[in-house]
Amino acid sequence: MKNAKEYVGKEVEIGAWITNKRSSGKIAFLQLRDGDHFFQGIVVKNDVGEEIFDVAKSLTQETSVIVQGIVQEDTRSKLGFELLVQNITVVGESHDYPITPKEHGTEFLMDHRHLWLRSSKQHAIMKIRNEIIRATYEFFNEEGFLKVDPPILTGSAPEGTTELFHTEYFDQEAYLSQSGQLYMEAAAMAFGKVFSFGPTFRAEKSKTRRHLIEFWMMEPEMAFMHQDESLEIQEKYVSYLITSVLKNCDLYLDTLERDKELLKKYTQLPYDRISYDEAVELLQKNGFEDIKWGDDFGSPHETFIANQSDKPIFILNYPKSIKPFYMKEHPDREDVVLCADMIAPEGYGEIIGGSEREVDYEKLKDQIVKFGLDSEEYSWYLDLRKYGSVPHSGFGLGLERMVTWISGTEHIRESIPFPRLLNRIYP
Ligand code: 4AD
Ligand code: MG
Repeated sequence: MKNAKEYVGKEVEIGAWITNKRSSGKIAFLQLRDGDHFFQGIVVKNDVGEEIFDVAKSLTQETSVIVQGIVQEDTRSKLGFELLVQNITVVGESHDYPITPKEHGTEFLMDHRHLWLRSSKQHAIMKIRNEIIRATYEFFNEEGFLKVDPPILTGSAPEGTTELFHTEYFDQEAYLSQSGQLYMEAAAMAFGKVFSFGPTFRAEKSKTRRHLIEFWMMEPEMAFMHQDESLEIQEKYVSYLITSVLKNCDLYLDTLERDKELLKKYTQLPYDRISYDEAVELLQKNGFEDIKWGDDFGSPHETFIANQSDKPIFILNYPKSIKPFYMKEHPDREDVVLCADMIAPEGYGEIIGGSEREVDYEKLKDQIVKFGLDSEEYSWYLDLRKYGSVPHSGFGLGLERMVTWISGTEHIRESIPFPRLLNRIYP
């Protein structure tokens, strides 16, 4: 029931499931879920008669029903309404529903993900995920970007060859996309400012609370744009997403007991910027003796850097040796590239990775060879540097990382309906 408050005083018929129930001799309280909301239905024996009241009393968890009744204002609940039930018709019975209101272990819940999705917490997370997707399209359309869909089956490996899912493509070898970026660069040369949103796949042997094997990414790419301007778009975009969630998902943030004042802080721009060099120095001064220039950061390092700010923070210009082949070399230094990772506060880690792209034909070709990639496979990509090449930059925002952070969820597995993890492809 959308915009339920408009129905106050009116008679409605709603398809719903029973999530819980309590009853006494004369009155039954049904907790109902219609997909949009979790709301209360009140069945009064004196109003509905013995027969319907007996049906109400017999309802078990997750039985599907059609209820008829009158919408009433309910100022005690945040939702603002409840249903005074007049009639109940059972559609589908449910017996021994495995997920009961008591606590269950994570593995049990993951095995029952197809049912776990019905819970109010999962409902709230999926609503926030939906809002982030909706606001993404709104933001990039307002900013004049064109939505472009890169392929899923590809012959390229933009983020390195170790994490590829191989598959047969008739008599050729193909991979599942790790990132649409290279195709988005071609699209930016055709359409100026573009963005994609789609699934990406990484055969990462990482079993952390931040890694999925299959995740969804937003990848904007902008022609005639340098890295510093790209950073401004990135922070504006993230702030826009959080503003939209605060505006449209108030109820769900409350369900998740998310600190909204904290989220409000994250909408204030600009975000701080710190160079990789400075970050290494800071870490070394603060007891991270293991880290030396040239190392990639692990999550304790990222968390320490993130704690230097009360908003997301950009780490700029990483060593060339630990970043992908396509990143543009710093104009004054051979050892670093023009890139940035946006690190979220509260230990949620890297939300965005992005860079300016190498546009020099020879340098790019050298890099492709150095990374052990087949330059034949990338000849179309090199073409982009032959015909009217322009400075361009782009970035990728991991949807589930964003959802996990904004909803304040502990583990990324709850931010996608059916997570693909190192040890799990069921259900
Ligand atoms: O930093 P990454 O690997 O960057 C790229 O793929 C670039 N080609 C993007 C671009 O410039 N167009 O990934 C981008 C983001 C990360 O910051 C993170 O949020 C997310 O994707 N991500 C993952 N999310 C969940 N599980 C994983 N295994 C992830 N790997 C990356
Ligand atoms: Mg990255």
